[in-house]
Amino acid sequence: MKFGHFDDAQREYVITQPDTPLPWINYLGCEEYFGLISNTAGGYSFYKDARLRRLTRYRYNNSPLDMGGRYLYIRDNNTGKYWSPSWMPTRVKLDEYECRHGQGYTIITSKLNGIKSSTRYFVPLGESLEIWQVTLTNENGSDADVSLFSAIEFCLWDANDDSTNFQRNYSIGQVEVDLESIGLPMKQEQAPALHKGSVIYHKTEYRERRDHFAYFACSEKLAGFDTQRESFLGAYRGWDEPAVVENGESCNSVAYGWQPIGSQHVKLQLKPGEQKQIIFILGYQENPKDDKFDPPGSQIINKKSAKKAIEKYLQASNVDKAFDELRNYWTMLLGKLQVTTPDEHTNRMVNIWNAYQCMVTFNMSRSASYFESGIGRGMGFRDSNQDLLGFVHMIPERARERILDMSATQLKNGGAFHQYQPLTKRGNNDVGSGFNDDPLWLVLGVSAYLKETGDWSILDELVQYENEAGTESPLYEHLQRSMQYTLDRLGPNNLPLIGRADWNDCLNLNCFSDTPGQSFQTTTNKDGNVAESVLIAGLFVLACSEMKGLADRYVERHTLNVTQLTFDVQPSTFYATAATEMEKTVWAAGWDGDWFRRAYDDFGHVLGSKENTEGQIFIEPQGICVMAGLGVENGNAVKALDSVGEHLATPHGIVLQQPAFSQYYLHLGEISSYPPGYKENAGIFCHTNPWIMIAESIVGRGDNAFDYYKRINPSAREEISELHKCEPYVYAQMIAGKDAATHGEAKNSWLSGTAAWNYVAITQAILGIQPTLDGLQIQPVFPCDWKGFTATRQFRGATYEIRVERQGKGNDVSLEVDGNPMTGSIIPLATKGSTVRVKAIVM
Ligand code: BGC
Ligand code: NOJ
Repeated sequence: MKFGHFDDAQREYVITQPDTPLPWINYLGCEEYFGLISNTAGGYSFYKDARLRRLTRYRYNNSPLDMGGRYLYIRDNNTGKYWSPSWMPTRVKLDEYECRHGQGYTIITSKLNGIKSSTRYFVPLGESLEIWQVTLTNENGSDADVSLFSAIEFCLWDANDDSTNFQRNYSIGQVEVDLESIGLPMKQEQAPALHKGSVIYHKTEYRERRDHFAYFACSEKLAGFDTQRESFLGAYRGWDEPAVVENGESCNSVAYGWQPIGSQHVKLQLKPGEQKQIIFILGYQENPKDDKFDPPGSQIINKKSAKKAIEKYLQASNVDKAFDELRNYWTMLLGKLQVTTPDEHTNRMVNIWNAYQCMVTFNMSRSASYFESGIGRGMGFRDSNQDLLGFVHMIPERARERILDMSATQLKNGGAFHQYQPLTKRGNNDVGSGFNDDPLWLVLGVSAYLKETGDWSILDELVQYENEAGTESPLYEHLQRSMQYTLDRLGPNNLPLIGRADWNDCLNLNCFSDTPGQSFQTTTNKDGNVAESVLIAGLFVLACSEMKGLADRYVERHTLNVTQLTFDVQPSTFYATAATEMEKTVWAAGWDGDWFRRAYDDFGHVLGSKENTEGQIFIEPQGICVMAGLGVENGNAVKALDSVGEHLATPHGIVLQQPAFSQYYLHLGEISSYPPGYKENAGIFCHTNPWIMIAESIVGRGDNAFDYYKRINPSAREEISELHKCEPYVYAQMIAGKDAATHGEAKNSWLSGTAAWNYVAITQAILGIQPTLDGLQIQPVFPCDWKGFTATRQFRGATYEIRVERQGKGNDVSLEVDGNPMTGSIIPLATKGSTVRVKAIVM
């Protein structure tokens, strides 16, 4: 069953029924001001940091679902009937409803009692504000007398404190309201709080250490307003039946403490067919510390800069222009790669949604979604490095900045803080380090950046360790230390020690936690000198092959430019040898006969082997080891992948391991804390599925690779939305596995490494359009029954028009570039601004 449909021409997903199985959300903003918005206008907004600068309040895990949002109420003043044009929160049945989610905007359109309403929500580029552009049309044959009420609930900035520290918070809330243009009589005691303009200002804590405030403006003369929640709602009422809306009259309440809100009341008389546009702006503004108050010495907000933005965007023509700019921006970003294949799901995911999701993971990491509270996690070190693989071609300059920020948190011993805070850009001490795979992902991230951009200068950037002045050394040296970190931590079998965990945060082999509530991630009860990871071994070999590509070129570049190297650079042979040694170790201790093993636990017992009764085979090492090239020549790669097909594949995707853990194992940790089939305990953990797709393409099995791709492609799952439950336009972190009662049900949509890796798998492995250090490589491994496909790829300033034609069933490629046959599969770099025509014949 579907709850909407794709509109690919508009690059939108159109939801046609408001009661989707879960709120189906979208993101507003792409720079500093962000919002989450659901298909029924739920969600919240923040500036830069979802925890520390939260503008509006949201109630997690609430019932009814999705409480807190950008709400509007329409009231027919002739009948007294009222409803929400976004269906929530009143849930009054609408005659028409449609929600269009696009890139950075959402449009909700509905109709009831002959009143059509359409609201476009978006954040203009370069601004720290959001716009709600509302158009009301009277489609009745008679005059309409309607009231439009807006309603938001302010968060007192620190979202964590806001939802816990009530003894303080109920007394600190402050607002200012300007009523001059509203023409309302002011009560004497309110006078000090009132100022010019029909704007509600939220200024909690502005009197002390905060230099920022929020404003909520409306383009119309108001019939009234409210800023105190209980005055608006009425005692013991919910957002579904505010007393003010029911009565058709605002209380003009000014909040003193308790729960400040912003609600404006606009009265409209609409002739038959008449249309009226009303604009609301919710914005964030900072003032210089010494210019906070106007007049100076008062307690009144200096509103000069906010007023500029308000004046600009209360004009519809400026709003339309800003919206066009946003659309063009996304056309430009998505235009970096566009494909036309025989499969519509592939086309729309590659061209629109998967790329968009990659950009959202760039901005949010794992912080704010409907499954991540925005108060818990900072930016993950390994997460951000992997996310980079999916967005580097769209925003290389920001990828550069991200790499430098992240590597400045790296520890001197080459390890990494597991997370860092986006606002301070410092490593997060609460979580600390010791996740032994972390530093290796930096190598993959930097290498991907270099392949995309050819910007070798990044390797010379002086970057601190642990954000400590005086520790600066070239980024390249950080990569060397990342590699050395693994070599310095080998266990009894010579495999890398796992530390707190490797990629699988829930395989906690040194944790031994028997205390409820303890964090599996940060509790370590063993010294960690025994438990080893085959995944890290494979990842190390993979990172070695990236370093091999960088090492000699790095030295050569310095020799050519006659610049001194400030530290000892390991030659590429160092990585070749290290990789060979590690491979030997894997064959000796990490190969189980039919697949790669997973780990050795603290007792030195193997995991991911036929010797185990549960957890015999895991997906991660099969993917990563084959990606690193292990077993490709001796046939073991194919064996491992066949084992994946036999033991782990399901129609809904590939599960993480089998058999699932049926009970909690103290020595395994969080992985066994999940009921079988969920999350890391044998769920379809989508992040790892593309590793298998890439591995399948490495062994030349395009049909298998694409088959796995399709199983978890959300668009291809749209028809089973009632089962899948999450948005059909973005990947979810997990789909319940075959051991679960709800096999096929997705959870944790949006913020997952699944986005970047699926993008890499389909574009670079299956369609085979792969940036390399020397040029763009065309080496597709795609389904036998495809006649071919076309693609346009922007790469290093040139446009590549690629046409792939299948003439045989294999994967041998011969290239013709601008009409000339070429040997090899890497097209030498073209001049900037040129268009390169590539024909690839696949035999
Ligand atoms: C989740 C993991 C996550 C970890 C760290 C666990 O509960 O299952 O997927 O990476 O928490 O936040
Ligand atoms: C989610 C985390 O963000 C990621 O870093 C980790 O690799 C996976 N969970 C697997 O546990």
